[in-house]
Amino acid sequence: MVDLSKRINIAKSFGLASKSYDISARLQRFSGKQLMTWLPNRHDLTVLDLGCGTGFFTDILAGRYQKIIGLDISSNMLSFASSNRNNMISWLEADAYHLPLATESVDLVYSNLMIQWCDALEDVVQEVLRVLKPGGLFIFSTLVDGTLHELKSSWQQVDNDRHVIDFKTTAQLKHACSLDNSKLLEFNEQPIVLEYENVMHLAKELKGLGANHVPEKLNRGLAGKDKWQQMMAAYKAFVDADGVYPATYRVFSGMVVKLNG
Ligand SMILES: C[S@@+](CC[C@H](N)C(=O)[O-])C[C@H]1O[C@@H](n2cnc3c(N)ncnc32)[C@H](O)[C@@H]1O
Repeated sequence: MVDLSKRINIAKSFGLASKSYDISARLQRFSGKQLMTWLPNRHDLTVLDLGCGTGFFTDILAGRYQKIIGLDISSNMLSFASSNRNNMISWLEADAYHLPLATESVDLVYSNLMIQWCDALEDVVQEVLRVLKPGGLFIFSTLVDGTLHELKSSWQQVDNDRHVIDFKTTAQLKHACSLDNSKLLEFNEQPIVLEYENVMHLAKELKGLGANHVPEKLNRGLAGKDKWQQMMAAYKAFVDADGVYPATYRVFSGMVVKLNG
């Protein structure tokens, strides 16, 4: 059973970040641009940008394809997108688990760094496959296990709460993409290490992206000052000789085809 209240909180957290998102999104820009290299060359396609956020990539897709739909669970993200992007784009407020689109109506689903927020990943992939035409493509990027391992292990030295979301393993991801009616045609996994001035800089970037919400967190309040200081002290073990704080993101990109019949 997929928990709706969890997804409402994710939407709120992203909604609060709709104005700060674009300046914090260095990882998203990088992975989204990489995904573009897999895009088909035909122009006459109907394309869905799943979890479109502020619509940065939806806008680029609108320059390449005939019909574009930008879909997101956050109304704030969509209101930012609709006032700042190409006015030919159709914007839809909806949940990736229940797409308000007809079966076999879409040629291409593009999704940059959204599905890591979906616990029941196979359900989302099935829903994407439902709306795709046979032969249609699902081109996506997500984050896998090992992402933010520095932050995770620093918090583990302080308490047993969940401070970082649980990312799927590569094997779980490949399994979710290889259903009866689909095949993972291409994939690529790479660690990207971003540099920060300190842990607060990292925390602010995650907040600016709306990615600071951890659904399974036991203690809903903010961790106290003492705990933060202990965590920041533990993070120092990762700091390099130049005083730079690294944070690792393991980006998995994939291209799935919907099989005929
Ligand atoms: C990290 S942002 C990526 C935004 C955009 N794709 C980009 O590359 O900038 C993730 C987006 O996924 C949306 N999202 C999270 N869970 C969702 C769900 N279940 N259904 C639809 N959108 C969702 C969030 O509201 C947020 O805008």
